[in-house]
Amino acid sequence: MYQHLSTTTFTHFIFYELRTWNNQNPQKRRFSMFQVLTTSFVKWNKNKIPHMYNTMLTIILFTILFVNRILLNENYSPFINSGFFYLLFCKDVEQGLFRKHMSPILSPHSGMSSKVLDFGSGPGIMSVFFENYVGVDTDQTRVETATAAFPDKYFSKIDYITSQNQSIPFENGTFDVVLLNDCVHHINNKHMHYILQEIRRVLKPTGRIMLREPNRETSLFTWTITELFENGNYVRNIVEYKDLLNCDIEYEMQHDEYIRDYYVIIGKNCMPNPTISDTPIRATRHFINVLVYTILMCMLYNTCIVALLMK
Ligand SMILES: C[S@@+](CC[C@H](N)C(=O)[O-])C[C@H]1O[C@@H](n2cnc3c(N)ncnc32)[C@H](O)[C@@H]1O
Repeated sequence: MYQHLSTTTFTHFIFYELRTWNNQNPQKRRFSMFQVLTTSFVKWNKNKIPHMYNTMLTIILFTILFVNRILLNENYSPFINSGFFYLLFCKDVEQGLFRKHMSPILSPHSGMSSKVLDFGSGPGIMSVFFENYVGVDTDQTRVETATAAFPDKYFSKIDYITSQNQSIPFENGTFDVVLLNDCVHHINNKHMHYILQEIRRVLKPTGRIMLREPNRETSLFTWTITELFENGNYVRNIVEYKDLLNCDIEYEMQHDEYIRDYYVIIGKNCMPNPTISDTPIRATRHFINVLVYTILMCMLYNTCIVALLMK
């Protein structure tokens, strides 16, 4: 119910904002939520920005956001250290959710003896849950952010694995656990196939994969949020995650959250499935999401500027 409520509220909010934004009457425009907030926020500011200059900036902003989301859609922006913001704003929420979802299964794997590889470790937020921990990520800025934030843990940059002859830089049978947390929804099936072959190699024969990913099945809001704000193009449903890992399942659980829904799975003896077809990128929906996201961001920017001009 909450999911439908949140999706409906979100949609109404966008349409309300769009309607208000279209209204040429400045008196009515003031009722926009964005404007009410931003007007009070920027009241102290005496600067006035000319319309022409603002239009140019909006076009530039729109182009950057749109191109960034379409062209770099499988990577993070090279212009922004998103890991820093993630660490700053999302750390507590993300750690809280991880603790809640994983606590029944964390303890047997998190002792001194369990060596954990966090694949796609980002800013290293989950390193606090493991003593014997190594994090790898393709994003250099995130690796640097993680190293600075958690100096007692080891993080390393790796190359994107996109073919058979690339490897994760560790010896065979090094790890007891490989953690895939909030990372697989960035990677298509073909690449995941090569990654899972490597994960199988670096895992001990008794080793386990722990996967915790947003579940596309349960809520419209899950993939909307994940695609819009996180560049996650491969949010899968449970069947798709299971087909991908192709392992003996020891534990699985769905967690329905307000923001997005998660699927947790622990498996062993994973046998990367060579027959699995490539994940469709769900192009139309993705394009619409990107467009909405870009328009929203430009609206937010414009609202700040209009709030300045209206004073
Ligand atoms: C949403 S973040 C999650 C970070 C971390 N696992 C956490 O839960 O805080 C996804 C991370 O996956 C990384 N990533 C995306 N594609 C990857 C790939 N092909 N190989 C390794 N890491 C990848 C990104 O750089 C990003 O840091």
